[in-house]
Amino acid sequence: RKKAPNAEDIRARKGDDPLVSLTAYTTPMARLMDNHCDFVLVGDSVGMVLHGLSSTLGVTMEMMILHGQAVARGLEAAMMVIDMPFASYEESPEQAFRNAAHLMAETGAGAVKLEGGVEMADTIRFLVKRGIPVMAHIGLTPQSINTLGGYKVQGRDEQAEAVLADAHAVTEAGAFSVVLEKVPQGLADQITAGIAIPTIGIGASAGCDGQILVVDDMLGFFTAFKPKFVKRYADLGPLAEAAIAEYAAEVRARNFPAAEHVFADHAPTKGPKS
Ligand code: KIV
Ligand code: NA
Repeated sequence: RKKAPNAEDIRARKGDDPLVSLTAYTTPMARLMDNHCDFVLVGDSVGMVLHGLSSTLGVTMEMMILHGQAVARGLEAAMMVIDMPFASYEESPEQAFRNAAHLMAETGAGAVKLEGGVEMADTIRFLVKRGIPVMAHIGLTPQSINTLGGYKVQGRDEQAEAVLADAHAVTEAGAFSVVLEKVPQGLADQITAGIAIPTIGIGASAGCDGQILVVDDMLGFFTAFKPKFVKRYADLGPLAEAAIAEYAAEVRARNFPAAEHVFADHAPTKGPKS
């Protein structure tokens, strides 16, 4: 089995074969993707996808640590990256270092991801200089939903310069890669061509150096809404509900458990095994 890549291995994949990534929050899902992904992100999307929160703002360090530990148990071949939750890094580089180090120490993640471009460049530099690899996340940054005013495309028309500046700022600050979320295709291609670190697209462009999706979105488990950039590779939510409905009907009809699921009153007599 191959050894998991580290942040420098990921950085070195710039311009190479596309990097493959998904989010995971649990051990069994991490196991399913371990041999198919270069890195797995313990995303703060966990709050919306598994905990029913209406945004990522309520996600805590404790939640990230618990899910990070679960994912780590399911990974051997893929690298693990973990999101810094809202309010765990924005206050100061020192606060960011303290919480990033805590996340890595508790979970074994090989890098952290945080949201922000120009305004986070000093923080990224502070972390990287002190041994913490950082994946940046620009374009649509869901932790800023209240100031962005909605989950809108970021970087169209006169907004493009700002996103481009963010991409250069996080690169110069030492990020080993950058997620581009919900930015126009042409801008994503321009950024990918213009910076020296891999771009990881989600709602960006097939020309990015890699792609990421939220696993519950692409498997059809999360159905509260479906962004345009999500492709449902399977529709497991309805399949799961059909199975649950069948179970309920069989219990009500006393058709479950059946003979093969129940135990006899007496132990089977011992005899030669056939
Ligand atoms: O939390 C998350 O799932 C993410 C990805 C969508 C990049 O940040
Ligand atoms: Na996230």
